[in-house]
Order: sequence, then C-alpha cells, then structure tokens
Amino acid sequence: MTSQGTMNGKVALVTGGSRGIGAATALRLAREGADVAVTYVSGKEAAEDVVRGIEALGRRGLALRADSSDAAEAGAVADRVVAEFGRLDVLVNNAGVGVLGPLESLSPADVDHVLDVNVRGVFLVSRSAVPHLGDGGRIVTIGSCMTQRVPGPGGTLYAMSKSALIGLTRALARELGDRGITANIVHPGPVDTDMNPADGPYAPPQSAMTAVGRFGAADEVASMVAYLAGSEAGYVTGAEFAVDGGHAA
Ligand SMILES: NC(=O)c1ccc[n+]([C@@H]2O[C@H](COP(=O)([O-])OP(=O)(O)OC[C@H]3O[C@@H](n4cnc5c(N)ncnc54)[C@H](OP(=O)(O)O)[C@@H]3O)[C@@H](O)[C@H]2O)c1
Repeated sequence: MTSQGTMNGKVALVTGGSRGIGAATALRLAREGADVAVTYVSGKEAAEDVVRGIEALGRRGLALRADSSDAAEAGAVADRVVAEFGRLDVLVNNAGVGVLGPLESLSPADVDHVLDVNVRGVFLVSRSAVPHLGDGGRIVTIGSCMTQRVPGPGGTLYAMSKSALIGLTRALARELGDRGITANIVHPGPVDTDMNPADGPYAPPQSAMTAVGRFGAADEVASMVAYLAGSEAGYVTGAEFAVDGGHAA
C-alpha cells in the first residue's frame, strides 16, 4: 500500500531511528509520504524492522550504522542518504543519550560521551545535511523538557547538553532562513521508551511533574515533528515546542 500525505517525494533522515521517539518519527514521516533513512549505533535489527515498517507504507527505507559520537561518521551521514535516495529534505536530529547522576559521579569520560552524541554529533550531522537541503528544507531537533525545568537533582550533564541545542536551533534558523530552510526544536517530557520506561523506578515522580499526570507516547512527539517537517510549517522557525504534558507549566 502506498500512503498519500503531505511529504510525498521528500526524503527524511532521522538519527537514532531504530527505537523510541526516532522510530515513531521515521514511521510517521513515511506515513506522510517521505522516504526515510534512519541511523543507529548498535540496534541493527531494530533499525531493519523500522525499515520494513517504512516499506510496508510503500516508501523507501534505509538503515545506516552511523555513530553520532564519531566525528567522521556523523559528518558523512547525509552524503550517504543522498547517495542512496538522491536528495535530502528533512533532518530530524533525534539520536541522544542520557547520563544522569550527582555531579561528583559524572566523570570526564561521561561528559565527553554525552557532549559527543548530544551536541557535537548534532552539529556535525546538521553540517552534513545543510548543503543538500533546498527551499522548503527542514531541521527538527529533539531537545528535552529538562532545558525548560529541571525537576530534581542528577540532571546537570544531560540538561547542559540539551540546552546547547536551543542555541544551535536559533542560529541555524538565522543562517538558513533566506534559503527557505527552517530549524526548530521539540522538547519532549517524559516519554515511554527504552531510555525512560513508564514502569521504571523514576517514573512516578516524572508523571507527577506533568500537568496531565502521565508519560507521553513516542507517537505524541512524532506528530509534532511531522507538523514542523511538513509544508505547512514554512513560517515557523527558530522556535521551541514543548510536548511535555505540561511539565514546564
Ligand atoms: N524518552 C524521554 O523521556 C525523552 C525525554 C526528553 C528527550 N528525549 C530525547 O529524545 C531522543 C530520543 O530518545 P528515546 O527516549 O527515544 O531514546 P532511546 O529509546 O534510548 O533511543 C535512542 C536512539 O538513539 C540511538 N543512538 C544512541 N546513541 C547513538 C549514537 N552514538 N549514534 C547514533 N545513534 C545513537 C539509538 O540507537 P541504537 O538502537 O543503535 O542504540 C536509538 O535509536 C533523545 O535525544 C532523548 O534525549 C527523550
């Protein structure tokens, strides 16, 4: 079956698309009509499952092993997508890691890894994508509700890393606006994924911190990304969008 949507003929790249919010986003963009490439680092089988889901919607899918913490791999990923699909219209910077804990427990190696994936990787993948994006191009980055409100201890490194993406997003919007390319950032609240399971030990206080009193589903983030990636959002750029159940309210 071939889906008909607002993104027919477009090509999207979703980093960290093998699981969680990235997988839901990849499938949602395919449902809107896009061909979608996903990256992963260790989840090859999961990424290939997502590709099969994309293909079941009548679109082309591609699973690429590309470690965002490796500068060479992050810097080459968009070229690999264009080599396969011939163009690139949408980048979703989703790949991310969360290392939480008291300040004194976080080692220099932890700092390097989190910044390499969550910040340098996003910068380098974006830099690899920008030359390929044309008028109507879209960059959507996944931030975090922890950039708006840190609800308790243990979030120094993660909140610091995700906060850098707000500055990147605003600067990209200014740099790319005259080419018709938008850049926006989405801040999920607690969302039920492997990273943050809704039945995990830290789930109850997170649910309690939201206005709606529950975890979100990955699809609820994906729908916001799909709007920002779509043709109707051309006048939306440099902006932050909370999909957090009222976590920041
Ligand atoms: N879940 C939440 O409550 C929540 C809240 C706010 C923000 N976020 C953000 O949302 C994004 C997605 O989170 P999630 O909850 O869906 O996480 P997840 O279930 O842990 O999935 C993480 C994804 O990122 C990929 N990834 C991890 N390290 C990578 C690397 N070095 N290079 C390339 N890909 C890498 C993983 O690939 P593999 O399968 O190969 O490991 C996987 O596809 C992250 O940026 C996260 O910080 C999540």
